[in-house]
Amino acid sequence: AANLAPIASASPIPPPDLKSFCCPPVPDDMDSVPYYKFPPMTKLRIRPPAHAADEEYVAKYQLATSRMKELDKDSFDPLGFKQQANIHCAYCNGAYKVGGKELQVHFSWLFFPFHRWYLYFYERILGSLINDPTFALPYWNWDHPKGMRIPPMFDREGSSLYDDKRNQNHRNGTIIDLGHFGTEVDTPQLQIMTNNLTLMYRQMVTNAPCPSQFFGAAYPLGTEPKPGMGTIENIPHTPVHIWTGDPRQDNGENMGNFYSAGLDPLFYCHHANVDRMWDEWKLIGGKRRDLSNKDWLNSEFFFYDENRNPYRVKVRDCLDSKKMGFSYAPMPTPWRNFKP
Ligand code: C2O
Repeated sequence: AANLAPIASASPIPPPDLKSFCCPPVPDDMDSVPYYKFPPMTKLRIRPPAHAADEEYVAKYQLATSRMKELDKDSFDPLGFKQQANIHCAYCNGAYKVGGKELQVHFSWLFFPFHRWYLYFYERILGSLINDPTFALPYWNWDHPKGMRIPPMFDREGSSLYDDKRNQNHRNGTIIDLGHFGTEVDTPQLQIMTNNLTLMYRQMVTNAPCPSQFFGAAYPLGTEPKPGMGTIENIPHTPVHIWTGDPRQDNGENMGNFYSAGLDPLFYCHHANVDRMWDEWKLIGGKRRDLSNKDWLNSEFFFYDENRNPYRVKVRDCLDSKKMGFSYAPMPTPWRNFKP
């Protein structure tokens, strides 16, 4: 049985009974699932900042997403949109147990690598649905003033990228508060943006001089889940979820709860920027590099690829996004000059 953990303890509402409805069928012999090998690649997928995407790109992304949603009509297609969302539910709401303990990919050092692999396959599936091997997910550039609002392509009703279960007061260009834990502020917009930049400096630079602060606490096999979040997972990752989720729903759905977050297409755009912060953090220098702990490097996840084959992947193979075949279109990082 799965439990419904709110993304932050801000939600006062008791969880509904979830059961393990979000588990994909488990292969009989898990050990026979092969390790993933990167397919040959000719061109990097360059993930664009969502607010700056042109109409041609938006049309492609919308088409790919609606095709993915159509696959949900079959009873179980691992490439379907709901099944893709359920990956998040399975890894985050206690559907899996390892050695009798709940497997949880949040609140620990699994946070960055799990989501990187998750987006990796999601992006490849979308690309294959429109026969575009260079298709790249957009990133929600919330660390730059131009990106501090719901990207317009996600806010068009009727589009496959739109989700009804969002906070209606946060639409139409409302500036996002990256420190939002449920309380509305009446701070002027310019001030919110400045606060956001200061907050980014704090989470990326001041509070994360070493890998353990950035990635989160160690979570080797057999230990208790949720040993502790890294700086970015805590803030702004969690506030962006809560700010986007719909307060009219019982559990902050969709973005405000783990089991439902992946049902909002904006989830993947949000996490592309979270993932981009991993690359940006290493560029700051000092001791900011990947963890070298073997338990981390050898941690494994399961995913289906775009050909519906299940694979095992290791953390050690996702440390270099370019080797995986994608990168981020550069945007300035003004927060680097926002030392308080
Ligand atoms: Cu898996 Cu943003 O949470």
